[in-house]
Parts: sequence; structure tokens; C-alpha cells
Amino acid sequence: MTATAERRPVLPMSELSDYAGGPALVRAEPASDRLILSWESGEQAAFSLNWLRDHCPCDECRHVRTRERLYIPLEPPEHAPRMQLIEGNLELEWADGHQSRFDAGWLYQRRPGQTSNGTIPARRPWVEGFRPVSVDHADFTGSAEGERAWLDALLRDGLVLLDNGPLADEEVSRLAERIGPLRPTNFGARFDVRSKPNPNNAAYTAIGLAPHTDLPNWRQPPDIQLLYCLENGADGGESTFRDGFAAAQMLRERSPEAFRLLSETAIDFRFQDEHHDIVWRAPILTLGADGELVEVRFNNWIRDTLHLPPEQADAWYRAYREFWRLVHEPHQQLEFSLAPGQMVAFDNRRMLHGRKAFNPESGRRHLQGTYLDLDLLESRLRVLARQA
Ligand code: OGA
Ligand code: ZN
Ligand code: ZN
Repeated sequence: MTATAERRPVLPMSELSDYAGGPALVRAEPASDRLILSWESGEQAAFSLNWLRDHCPCDECRHVRTRERLYIPLEPPEHAPRMQLIEGNLELEWADGHQSRFDAGWLYQRRPGQTSNGTIPARRPWVEGFRPVSVDHADFTGSAEGERAWLDALLRDGLVLLDNGPLADEEVSRLAERIGPLRPTNFGARFDVRSKPNPNNAAYTAIGLAPHTDLPNWRQPPDIQLLYCLENGADGGESTFRDGFAAAQMLRERSPEAFRLLSETAIDFRFQDEHHDIVWRAPILTLGADGELVEVRFNNWIRDTLHLPPEQADAWYRAYREFWRLVHEPHQQLEFSLAPGQMVAFDNRRMLHGRKAFNPESGRRHLQGTYLDLDLLESRLRVLARQA
């Protein structure tokens, strides 16, 4: 079966967002319970009939407004459908008379083996000498490119700076809300980091904070942390950062046994104050199904009682010390003083962050912080990509 010359796209509305054109179909051939499609660009791919029936974009199979799926794939298609190419797009008529019209470019983007459309950048581990991307506040708030550059760097490098912002209370919340609703925790949706009279957390003192992740005592710690500097006039208080994934990868190479222990031994984390007692048990390094690193939980001051028999405890402490030393290697750390009007954003489940001690008698230090969900950062990038 051959195509006619000009292809007018048939766009399933639900997929409009990432539709980027694509070649016309030139052939459609049945092969038992498959359909082999060939595009004018030379690619060929086999689609299962089940899949094609399930993905029918018509208004009966997809809700007219939400474009969400209505069709439920309970009945396998009994016979191969009748097929024809119309203006380079695919039209199928199933045994029960139902008709499905597929856009050739839409199918092309979804041909088996095709996974990513490239909108979300892959993580890139820090190498020695890493310098973070800085985006100007005016560019972030004033242009889609500025916001995209910020999101891209944050997702790729795990950390990004925003420069030259106003010294305005709550600016951190306004910036975060451009991306999505703030993720609340027991410290509120938005928190003030400064030395407080009755601190319930190390961050609210003037002591140094060793590299850590926030809230590993939660089942799901917040994904992204934003810290906005309003005042930084005290002596000390420099910020420190380290790519926790890169450090874990180093540990894996240098000391596989220590890596194994930290990834296989669940330990307890706990935060307690007058109002809360939040506990979670998890290993310091969480691995995915393929052994890849998915999360680091590292926070020495809210690590709780270690429930391990003495021998296992001793082995675990040896592994912990090795990782601690790696994390603290000075040439792998990024250290700088946040300037008033500057904001740092980082992936709290990948990066380790800390600060040097400061002297509250010497001047004021005040940061405002909040958290965001990674899903909404990725969503924002996809939405911005529609306009590109
Ligand atoms: C925190 C924190 C760092 C700082 O609030 O979680 O780590 O620079 N603060 O005060
Ligand atoms: Zn349909
Ligand atoms: Zn912290």
C-alpha cells in the first residue's frame, strides 16, 4: 500500500504538547498480530494490534475535553483490521466496525524502542572544578529561555544559582510558585534559616552544618530545595555543596564493600520536637532495580539509634567513615558565600549541602527556604518546550 504525496497531520489533542511533526507513512503491512509500518524517512517498526486498538485517538476512546483514555483494553482485537493510508496517515477499521485514525508523526515518535524526546536533561555528575550555572533573576522571571536555562541546569547538574534578586521577604515563595505549589514539611511550607533563641533544628543555630540532605527521616524527603539569601553579614556561614551521587560512585569504585554496606543496611532517622516525632528507616544509599543510585540520605544529626548487632555495627561505621571522608574531600566541594539577593536551588535527594559556622554577634545572616517536587519542575520544562 503506498501513500499519497501530501500529509496533513491528524493530531491526537492529548499529545499536542510534544508533537514535533514527523515523516509520512508510505507502507502498512499486516504480519500475524502485528502491523509493520514504514515511513518515508526509511524507518520501519512493528506495532502490536492490541497496542494500536488501545491507543485509538477517537472521541469515543479518549475523552473529548481531557483527552484522557476512556477505552479499556479488555478484548483483544480478533482479526487484523482493514487498513489504508490517507495523506500519509494510518486509518484502521476493526472487525467490529470501529475506526481509528493515527497521525503518522505521532506513531513515528512512539515506535517501539523510542523512549525519550529529550526535553528532560539527563543527570551529569560533577567533575573536579565544577562551576554552577547562574541565571539572572530578571531573566528567570522575564523570559521562557531564562526559566528553561535555570530548570535545565538544576535537573542536569543538581544545583543552580539565581543572581541579583530583590531583597524582598517571601521572594523565595514567589519564585517557587512559578514552578508549582510549595512542598510543606514540619518546618512549614516556607522556613526562615537564622540563629533562633529556641532552635528545634541544627540549621536554626549558628553552628556549622556538615554536608547533609534534608529530612531523610521522611518516607519521601523533599526533592528540590530553594534557599534565598536576604542577609549574609555575619562572619562565616559560607555554603558548601557536594554531588552526593558522584561521591557515592567514587565509593563504589574505591571501596565496593563499603558501598554495599551503605546501600544494603537500613538505618533509622528521626526528628523530634514538641509537636512532631517523624521516623523513617532507609539505607544511606538507595539503589534502583538496575543497581543505579536513586537517592542519598545523609544527615548525621538526625541519624537515630543504630539498631545493629556489634559486628555489623562496626562494619557499618567503617563504611560510614569512608563515605564521610570522601564527601569531605575539599577539592570535590563547592564553597561560596551566598550574596543577598542570590538564591541557590538544588536536588535534595542527590546533592549534599552544608554551611560553615557563623558568628551571630558579628552581623546578621538570614535565608528563606522552601521545597518543590521534582515532578513539577519536569512538568514546567515540558510545558515551556511546547512554546519552543
Ligand atoms: C538548611 C540548611 C544551610 C545554611 O536549612 O537545611 O542546611 O546555609 N541551611 O544555613
Ligand atoms: Zn476509537
Ligand atoms: Zn539543610
